[in-house]
This record gives sequence, C-alpha cells and structure tokens, in this order.
Amino acid sequence: MNLTVIGTGYVGLVSGACFAEMGNRVTCVDVDQTKIDGLKQGHLPIYEPGLETIVERNFKEGRLGFSTCLADTITESNLFFIAVGTPPGEDGSADLQYVLAVAREIGQLMTQYSVIVDKSTVPVGTADLVHAAIQEELDKRKVEIEFDVVSNPEFLKEGAAIDDFMKPDRIVVGTESPRAQDLIRQLYAPFNHNHERTIFMGVRDAEMTKYAANSMLATKISFINEISNLCELMDVDVENVRRGIGSDGRIGFSFIYPGCGYGGSCFPKDVQALIRMAQGVDYVPEVLLSVEKRNQQQKRWFTRQLEKRFDGNLSGMTFGVWGLSFKPGTDDMREAPAKVLLADLLAAGAKVLAYDPVAMETAQHELPAEWFESGDVTLVGNQYEALQQVDGLLLVTEWKPFRNPDLAAMSRTMRKKIIFDGRNQYEPDYIRNEGFEYFGVGRLG
Ligand SMILES: NC(=O)c1ccc[n+]([C@@H]2O[C@H](COP(=O)([O-])OP(=O)(O)OC[C@H]3O[C@@H](n4cnc5c(N)ncnc54)[C@H](O)[C@@H]3O)[C@@H](O)[C@H]2O)c1
Repeated sequence: MNLTVIGTGYVGLVSGACFAEMGNRVTCVDVDQTKIDGLKQGHLPIYEPGLETIVERNFKEGRLGFSTCLADTITESNLFFIAVGTPPGEDGSADLQYVLAVAREIGQLMTQYSVIVDKSTVPVGTADLVHAAIQEELDKRKVEIEFDVVSNPEFLKEGAAIDDFMKPDRIVVGTESPRAQDLIRQLYAPFNHNHERTIFMGVRDAEMTKYAANSMLATKISFINEISNLCELMDVDVENVRRGIGSDGRIGFSFIYPGCGYGGSCFPKDVQALIRMAQGVDYVPEVLLSVEKRNQQQKRWFTRQLEKRFDGNLSGMTFGVWGLSFKPGTDDMREAPAKVLLADLLAAGAKVLAYDPVAMETAQHELPAEWFESGDVTLVGNQYEALQQVDGLLLVTEWKPFRNPDLAAMSRTMRKKIIFDGRNQYEPDYIRNEGFEYFGVGRLG
C-alpha cells in the first residue's frame, strides 16, 4: 500500500518506519526542513531504541521516503496519517491548529477517494472538524471527492515504541465506513499476528479511548504517589504496600511505582485536555482534577525532602542530578520532573551538576540558556562527574546505569553522602550500610 504520514516526530516516524517494514511504501512529511534533511542523510531527530536500523533499512530499500512537501506524495497515496503534535493550549485544551492545518492541506491537494487517519491524540469531535476542514477546501476547489476520516489513536510508549507498534496490545480504529474499515484492516493485518487485535468502534469512542487510557495510567501513578506520601507520614514502607497490592490480580503491578511524578508529552497534557473536555460539557471531573493536582505536587517531592533535610536553606549548595529525560529510554524532556526540580534548586540558590545518558543535547535546547551561562547548571560527561563535591545525589530518572552505581567511587567525591532517590531504585539498608544517608519516596526514614 502507498501511504503518507504527516508529522515526523515520535509517533509519525515510528509509525512510518514500521508500516514500511511491513512492505508498504511510506512517505513521511514534516514542515521541519532540518528534520527532513537530517533523515535523508541518516540522522534521526529523536532517540528511540531500534528505530535507526528500521529507518535505514527501509530508506535504502526505497520503501521509506522523506519530504517537506505533501504535494509530492499526493498522487500516489490515498491513505494519510495525521501524526502532528497536539500541545496544550493556554487553557489546557488540545491545540488543534497543526491537525487542522494538515487537514486543509489534504483538502487542497487530494485527487482520489482517500482515508484520512487521525493518529495524533485529539479531543472527542475532532474527526468532525477534520472532515469539515477538508470538505471546505474541496468546495473551494469545486470538486467532489469522497473521503473518510478515521480515528486511530496511538498507544506506543517512548523507549519501547518499536515493540509496541509491531506487537500492539490492541489497535483501536474509529470509523463506521466499511470502505475505510477494509483499507485499515488490510494495512494492519501484518500487526495482528494470527490474533485479531483490531477493535472497531465509533470515531468518537476511539477519540475518547485514548484519553481514557492515558488518564487511567496517570491515575494509577497519582494514586500510589498519594499513598507514598501517607506512608512517609505514618511510618510505613510503601514498597511493601506496593508489593502487597500489586499481587492482587485486579490491581496488578504496572504503573503503581511511587516516584517524583509523571511527565512526558502525553500524560500531563492528555489529563488536562480531558479535564477541559469535561468542563466543556459542564461536568466536574473530580478524579482527573485530583490526579493532575497530585502530580504537580509530586514533582516537588525532591524540593520538600531537601528543604526538610537542610532546614530550608539550600543556598550555596551543589547537587548532582542523575537523569533529565522524563523517563528512561528516551531523550524527551517535555514536562519532565527534572525541569521542575532544577527550577526549584536554582530559585533556592543552589547549583546543579547534571548528567543523562541520552538527553544531554535535548537539555541544551530545552533548559533556559541563562541557567548554563550563569554556571548554575553544568551538564557533565558522565554520572560520576556529576558527583564532584556535591551536597547530595538526586536520582530523577531510573536509567539502567544508575541502578547499581559504584558507591565507593561516590563516597570519595561527594561532599555529603546523601542520596535522594526519586524512583526508589535502591535498597535503603544496603545504601545506609555503605555510609550514605538515604531518602526514598514513601520509604522509612
Ligand atoms: N510521543 C508519544 O509517546 C505519543 C504516544 C501516543 C500518542 N502521541 C500523540 O501523537 C501526536 C504526535 O506526538 P509526537 O510526540 O510524535 O509529536 P512531535 O512533536 O514529536 O512531532 C510532531 C511533528 O509534527 C510536525 N508538524 C507540525 N505541523 C506540521 C504540518 N502542518 N505538516 C507536517 N508536519 C507538521 C512537527 O514539525 C513535528 O516534527 C500527539 O498528538 C501526541 O499526543 C504521542
């Protein structure tokens, strides 16, 4: 099949590459000329394990192409995936300007029956808006071309995106058009692995499914974080509680790891967007409001611990920060807890030595330039360099190389041997026996 993926970010590039891997001819289109030029030369704009090999192979074999110009692909393709960003607008609702700009462009160019697939995460009712935008452009051109707009939300996780896309738990497809269903069924057939994973539903149902999924996962995280805060106040070890409840099949272990809050380009904005959707129909989403509020507070877990430990005075201190990306396996720093932490530390007069295995380049762009110019934040070359003469280690992202660190080397360089473990990676007794002070999330002090 010939298809076009518009928006070549985490979702668009992975989807395009995986569709090409299954034998389809795919053009990935993006307005970002630098991104497209880089991809043509084999430079990936994002870090995602396994992606480079697939992109390289399919590009070489002519199944995967890159372009900044939708018009170049329009005559060959009748299947368009919209995978552009839907960032939060000022009021928290999803900003649809990029999605609708693409819809209009498709309407200006399409020449044959087409299926337009919303893969971006978009609020309920967006397929109707996309349909209207395309129809308006067709009317302007005074042409009659049939088309269907389908919702096919993406559930991949950054850091495991290829695996998630190739072996999805489910493929949600919102459309009632039999013609569109046939096309989508054919496209996804190789991903069904002798076991039908595609769930067809109404287009609005599919749009809501994505928000409900992310909000459910965010709820689990905020719930366990709330319990961990209670544990800290009540002399209870949350790790025992976690094991005690996770073993209940109805609850399960996933997404109940206490920590310093969730970040990324999805959970924070999707919970907020669902809150705005609810408010748009005069409904007060009590659970979601609390999930969001708990997370905002949880991102300040380090700040609260540091203030308690140092009697509210961090001025003149230096802290080593391990991990800047919002989670391991990605260079994505959108809404990362590390950003809140660094801002708090600097506001309190402290300095930071920071290290991340892959997000250093992202950090250079995403963090304010003045933080580096002032010398308040220094990005260093390895995890141990971040511990030179520091008053404590702050573990923010649980990258594998941080899990079993060289405590003897750390002892030699740290001014104060204190570990604040924002992801409960370490065994408190072991760390304390090695002569460190240790603070974990919801762990016994
Ligand atoms: N990142 C994830 O893990 C993830 C997972 C599931 C769903 N989603 C959703 O998928 C969507 C895309 O997310 P992402 O993380 O891939 O975004 P991203 O910011 O990484 O990529 C979006 C790309 O779209 C391009 N773009 C913007 N306007 C364009 C236009 N008019 N024409 C062509 N290209 C254009 C941008 O240049 C950018 O490269 C969002 O709605 C997001 O919520 C993301």
